[in-house]
Amino acid sequence: MPTGHGDWIRYIFAIDKRTMYTQPELNELAEAIKLSPENVTLRFLLIKKLQFYPEYRQQLEDNLNALLQYSPQHSDAKEILAKLYFDKGKVSAAIIIAEELLQDNNLSLEGQIILAKSYLAEEDTFRARELYQKVLTQDPDMSDPTLDNEFRVKVDGPGVEEILAQSMFLEKPKINFSDVGGLDHVKKEIDLKIIKPLEHAELYAQYGKKVGGGILLYGPPGCGKTYLAKATAGEINAGFINVGLNDILDMYIGNSEKNLHAYFEEARANKPCVLFFDEIDALGAKRTDLRQSAGKNVINQFLAELDGIESDNEGVLIIGATNSPWHIDSAFRRPGRFDRIIFVPPPDVESKEEILKIALREKPNDSIDYKKVSKTLADYSGADINALVDIATESKLVEAMETGVPQPIRTKDLLAASKHHKASTIDWFTTAKNYAMFANQSGLYDSILAYLDKK
Ligand SMILES: Nc1ncnc2c1ncn2[C@@H]1O[C@H](COP(=O)(O)OP(=O)(O)OP(=O)(O)O)[C@@H](O)[C@H]1O
Ligand SMILES: [Mg+2]
Repeated sequence: MPTGHGDWIRYIFAIDKRTMYTQPELNELAEAIKLSPENVTLRFLLIKKLQFYPEYRQQLEDNLNALLQYSPQHSDAKEILAKLYFDKGKVSAAIIIAEELLQDNNLSLEGQIILAKSYLAEEDTFRARELYQKVLTQDPDMSDPTLDNEFRVKVDGPGVEEILAQSMFLEKPKINFSDVGGLDHVKKEIDLKIIKPLEHAELYAQYGKKVGGGILLYGPPGCGKTYLAKATAGEINAGFINVGLNDILDMYIGNSEKNLHAYFEEARANKPCVLFFDEIDALGAKRTDLRQSAGKNVINQFLAELDGIESDNEGVLIIGATNSPWHIDSAFRRPGRFDRIIFVPPPDVESKEEILKIALREKPNDSIDYKKVSKTLADYSGADINALVDIATESKLVEAMETGVPQPIRTKDLLAASKHHKASTIDWFTTAKNYAMFANQSGLYDSILAYLDKK
């Protein structure tokens, strides 16, 4: 039964469509198509009707496949196929089709909801949440009960409801440090700086050691900053709130301070909670005039919240992340603020092996030589490794559809895929090297130089 408003509209719409077509009419259409199988328009007409009859699922699938043979780029048909796969529980196939459509801007909001639900089904809550959030900003009526149940925060504090209901999501991450390959030194820093103080608050107090402040993670894209922040929450069974600062600044000019405060308040109300600020450089980056004036107030508000001037931040673990630490105002780095700044490097060979294993652990695979593959992945980030596995999976899927016999992923598939994916960290290091060499205030970027040296 439909529950949300959007659901009802779709439900009524569906009934309406159904009553318009009777079985004999469907049969007539099917007969007509038999006579001219290449008539895409006619076949799509039938497909549109069949969608509303769960009992004709098989016919729907057959017709979609037939249509896509004649018209492989038919995006509406592909979207229906993605939905059908999702309904049938073939979630990864649904994701592949829907992602392709999304990339070309050909996926309707409804299709995007299906994609978000597919991500959720595959426990990729991060992508699910991100996409769901995007859909809701475009059309708040697109709410979906399953996604709501997973992501929406119930807020009862006064004054912030509207903003929060729309934009804020508290997660309970299921990943922990064991899901993060390598990065041992970063895990250790996080443990010492923010987990231990939380777990042994009294001991710290006895020794008069002030706790507070946050950790700032920086490094090339896709190397696990966000992932690690999330795993930190999972590690101690804390909540996780992901704040995209660019979103705050872009969507609510003039309202940014209020929003920022709301995020902190929500974290305080749900402690222990990791409050994660992504793209933190957005606060310091060179901005256009308009944004610059907005920027100043936001920075001040942010620093005040960080200092816990008006409220206590106990139990709130603050982690920030950025690709461009050089754009960050030095006021952020004072004691009690982001006083630990940690470089998150691309994975070394052993970590690449670990990440590969993690990425492949729930996919059919056979006697993979992880070491051999990892050695070929120079400059790959964790995200690159995921992309590699995606490419290999896709080729296996295509193969399986052609031959009808699914085969596991093997070493050679990964090696072949690596030829189709370019490492994404190279550009970052070109820029970083300049800052490390020419603007390395008080050795801030020594870790970058050490990393480049070792390479
Ligand atoms: N060390 C790792 N172990 C396991 N998976 C990893 C690791 N690093 C990256 N990944 C995978 O790559 C994906 C992308 O990483 P993540 O989003 O954390 O990168 P990021 O450093 O935050 O990048 P960006 O700077 O672009 O925000 C993760 O969702 C995860 O699946
Ligand atoms: Mg990130």
